[in-house]
Amino acid sequence: MLSTFISTSWWIGKANKEYMKKIQIINGPNLNLLGRREPEIYGGRSFEDYLEELRQRFPDVQLDYYQSNHEGALIDKLHAVGFEADGIVLNAGAYTHTSVALHDAVRAIDAPVIEVHISNVHQREEFRHRSMISAACRGVICGFGLDSYWLAIEALIGD
Ligand code: DQA
Repeated sequence: MLSTFISTSWWIGKANKEYMKKIQIINGPNLNLLGRREPEIYGGRSFEDYLEELRQRFPDVQLDYYQSNHEGALIDKLHAVGFEADGIVLNAGAYTHTSVALHDAVRAIDAPVIEVHISNVHQREEFRHRSMISAACRGVICGFGLDSYWLAIEALIGD
C-alpha cells in the first residue's frame, strides 16, 4: 500500500517535472557584474540574487541560467538549448548592437527568443538604439530594470 503510494507520487512528480516548461536565460558581456556595474543604470542587485526571486515567482517553470562575455560561447549556448527549450530570454548586452552572428543564431533555432534589456536603450546613446537581433526575436522588452526578465518569462509562458 505504502509502496504503491510512494511509486505513484514518484511517477506524478516525474511526469510534472517532464511537463514543466523549460526557459533558458542567457546573459551576455558585462552582465556578470550586475550589482557593481554602473548601479545608477543597472541597479544594485546581482543577477544571481534576482534569479532566486524569479525561481520563487515561477515554481512551475524550470529556469536555467547562463552568462558569458564571449560572442561564440553565446552562440554555442543558443545552439545547445535552442531545439529543446520552450523559450529563451536573451540579454545580449553590447553584442545586441553589433552581432550579425547572434541574429543568425536566433534565426537558426526553434525556440522563441525574447530580447531583453534592463535599461531603456532608446533613452540612451544613439549607438544603443539599433539592435541587430530584434528582427529575429519573438519580441523585445526593455527599460523595466531586472523585471524586464520577469515580463519576458510571463510572455513566453502565455505564448
Ligand atoms: C543592456 C543595454 C546594452 O546597451 C548594454 O551594452 C548592456 C546592457 C541592458 O540590459 O540594458 O550591456 O543590454
